[in-house]
Amino acid sequence: MDFNKPGIIDLPKIPDERGNLSFFENSKQIPFDIKRVYWIYDVPGGEMRGGHAYKDLQEVIIALSGSFDVVLHNGKEEQRFTLNRSYYGLYIPKMIWRQLENFSTNALALIAADAPYDANNYIRDFNDYKNSRNKI
Ligand code: TYD
Repeated sequence: MDFNKPGIIDLPKIPDERGNLSFFENSKQIPFDIKRVYWIYDVPGGEMRGGHAYKDLQEVIIALSGSFDVVLHNGKEEQRFTLNRSYYGLYIPKMIWRQLENFSTNALALIAADAPYDANNYIRDFNDYKNSRNKI
């Protein structure tokens, strides 16, 4: 997989009659060391999350339960990923605009990131984002 671009990482799935098991470890199944994990849940119907880019932060997003769409923009093109399997991890490099939407009832989004929370790491205005992309 090309880690300069967003894409789906097929995480291990250990099938078992007692229930399936999946996992990831630092720098093995995902291409970075995890500094933070957070999750989004109890999203009311029709609500959206995200709507920003990170200046310097990579993430992997997993739909641990339910489903939702991750809409990405690189300043030129939009790309939509529907996450609905708990063994798919969506890798998102830095400087990609993202919005999470179309959450199903009981959707649970788990996000692993390679940096602690820092409000200064966000670009929250899409025009600012596009201007910054043009300078890369
Ligand atoms: P935000 O990243 O804007 O949410 P989303 O992108 O999922 O829509 O974060 C919402 C609020 O939660 C914001 O006030 C900051 C806080 N927050 C933390 O304190 N730590 C975190 O790790 C995250 C992701 C958010």
